[in-house]
Amino acid sequence: MYKIAVLPGDGIGPEIVPEAIKVLEAVSRLYDIEFQYTEALIGGAAIDKRGQALPPETLELCYQSDAVLLGSVGGPKWDTLPAEKRPETAALLPLRKKLGLYANLRPAYLFAPLAEASPLKKEVVSGTDLLIVRELTGGLYFGEKKREKTATGEVAYDTMVYTTEEIERIVRLAFTIARQRRRHLTSVDKANVLTSSRLWRDTVERLKNEYPDVTVTHMYVDNCAMQLVRRPDQFDVIVTENTFGDILSDQASVLTGSLGMIPSASIGGRVALYEPAGGSAPDIAGQQKANPLAMILSAAMMLKYSFKLDQAAAAVESAVDRVLAEGYRTQDIYSPGTKVVGTAAMGDLVRQELERETRWKKS
Ligand code: IPM
Ligand code: MG
Repeated sequence: MYKIAVLPGDGIGPEIVPEAIKVLEAVSRLYDIEFQYTEALIGGAAIDKRGQALPPETLELCYQSDAVLLGSVGGPKWDTLPAEKRPETAALLPLRKKLGLYANLRPAYLFAPLAEASPLKKEVVSGTDLLIVRELTGGLYFGEKKREKTATGEVAYDTMVYTTEEIERIVRLAFTIARQRRRHLTSVDKANVLTSSRLWRDTVERLKNEYPDVTVTHMYVDNCAMQLVRRPDQFDVIVTENTFGDILSDQASVLTGSLGMIPSASIGGRVALYEPAGGSAPDIAGQQKANPLAMILSAAMMLKYSFKLDQAAAAVESAVDRVLAEGYRTQDIYSPGTKVVGTAAMGDLVRQELERETRWKKS
């Protein structure tokens, strides 16, 4: 039996998390595995009900679980709070840090039926299958920061700090993952300007000798932003620091049709965390418009990375593929000639498809 901490959070979180659980419940029946879910508050929802974004019982539940399924945190209601209270900086970042989740895996994979859904040309996005390995517990997000008054106004700074150890562990992980894929690693930095990037690049150069079967390209982050929309099929695994990875993963989502298609796994500690790469989308929250597929695919990553249920994970992914092939879309991935369905309906379709396919394979 696996214990799963369920943290719906804010915005579309409470709408998409139940869809992932629906699919996990089908996996449980079909593969005869038991999942136990315990829900807890996080983010703005926790601020409202408990007075703090990451209540101690939520953190304790995560420590006691085998994996964490997170919807999303944040929204306009809590945007004006000071940093030490906000959902993002007081809940999500400390949770990642405390669980030791230094690596965030964000696959940008184009399901073939969605080639029409991207605002980019079909011939550009076709064949997109890349994985961003984002460093998650260092860099600008966690470096020293300050804002203070001066004689004429204010001064504020954030520092991008990296140690050799921090770079080594994420780069090694990226090499290892590249070996299981197409064996090409693009290391993204800004070594022409930033000192931390120079250490990053030197470290990659040193380590690459240990992985002779993986080809390595160094790329400046500005160039990478351009290459991603110019010729995405040149990428296999991209490894980069925290802020660059945050920005590039939103950009890469456009290749897949929508931000609502990018799942993520944050790994590196005993308990891993699975959350969609997109945010809380407050503009469409509560209207059954959100795309639950990133959340469902995050659950598939949980099956694979935390529970080593590779077959079940692949079955969920292929169920998603077939639902899309049948022409069902949430509004974010709509293109003419397809059928728009709501959040829960999309979850039902994936569950049904998973049940149909798995039964057929077993019989
Ligand atoms: C993400 C999000 C978060 C991040 C925010 C909500 C703090 O944008 O997971 O990409 O910047 O890491
Ligand atoms: Mg982001």
